[in-house]
Amino acid sequence: MVAKTQKATPRKPVTIPVTLIPGDGIGPEVAEATVTVLEAVGAPFAYEWHTAGVAGLKKEGDPLPKATIESIRKTRLALKGPLATPVGGGFRSSNVRLREEFQLFANLRPARTLIPGGRYEKIDLVLIRENLEGLYVGFEHYIPIGDDPRAVALASGVNTRAGGRRINEFAFDYALKNNRKKVTLVHKANVLKALTGLFLETGREVAKRYESKGISCDDRIIDACAMQLVMNPWQFDVLVTTNLFGDILSDLNAGLVGGLGMAPAGNIGADAAIFEAVHGSAPDIAGKGVANPLALMLSAAMMLDHVGHMDKARRVRDAIDAVLLKDKVRTGDLGGKATTKQFTRAVVSRLG
Ligand code: NAI
Repeated sequence: MVAKTQKATPRKPVTIPVTLIPGDGIGPEVAEATVTVLEAVGAPFAYEWHTAGVAGLKKEGDPLPKATIESIRKTRLALKGPLATPVGGGFRSSNVRLREEFQLFANLRPARTLIPGGRYEKIDLVLIRENLEGLYVGFEHYIPIGDDPRAVALASGVNTRAGGRRINEFAFDYALKNNRKKVTLVHKANVLKALTGLFLETGREVAKRYESKGISCDDRIIDACAMQLVMNPWQFDVLVTTNLFGDILSDLNAGLVGGLGMAPAGNIGADAAIFEAVHGSAPDIAGKGVANPLALMLSAAMMLDHVGHMDKARRVRDAIDAVLLKDKVRTGDLGGKATTKQFTRAVVSRLG
């Protein structure tokens, strides 16, 4: 017990180490803006700044430097700006390498209407994509016939029962923790009976365990689902699907709320999680101070949720909503005139 005359030592806040990869192009500008907002909301992060992509290649001779990997291995948490990847030749995407290295099996892509007046109002969907299996395992080859060395192209997909269980459990857990009511399993089990049939089977098994917890489940064939997302997206809540379908649907959902520019994402594994803006390095506007930092800020809010600081995550989202809707401070890509710094200052002042 602390004696009345003695002052209690204030408890030191627990800091959470996080690897920060600003990335290429506009990456450093939006990363700086995001850290400013995280500091303003009192996020307890201790940042380890590292490079990847072209910045990694320039500084350490590797688009995914060892020091960056070691840091994530230690912190198990990263916030990442966009990384430039050469098209066709050049080095392999550092984004894909990071997902594989840390077995980030779940790709979490929320799509929420931020600015009313677009094609759709009041969208609030979450797409969960299996990130490591399916047709993206890269088992591809050609068979030569006669003088054509590439007469036939073959690709094999790999879905495992363990992988199906893992992603479906992730989706239902996510629904439960985030007060969502329904999970839709998206598949093509009528044609790819083994590959996506196994995913559907494991999904239905997992769903049974969540029925009594108030999470309902239904399923859709991918093509019908794509149409229904365009016709009536409000019927969906959480969608979970395999790698290729998830890649396509997550961009479709972003389109429902105005495009990829404002989309946040999380790549989550059993041992590590990396949060990132979905947009690229925007070389056309890099260094001009006009980039929209919103997507990385929203990714940082997802990271706050992930480490259990939901209250701070909500404050960041509310501040962004207020800046966009009440203050009407917006960057050029959203039809406004604000610079990155002006937008950031507006968010900070809304945080109070
Ligand atoms: P991009 O997303 O960089 O740019 C497309 C258009 O959107 C450009 O006009 C750009 O100015 C604008 N834009 C993007 N983000 C913006 C922001 N935050 N604020 C204002 N305007 C923004 O796509 P692009 O040009 O196809 O790719 C450029 C580079 O980025 C490539 O090397 C590509 O590989 C890489 N990339 C990286 C990603 C990642 O690391 N997650 C994702 C997508 C592309």
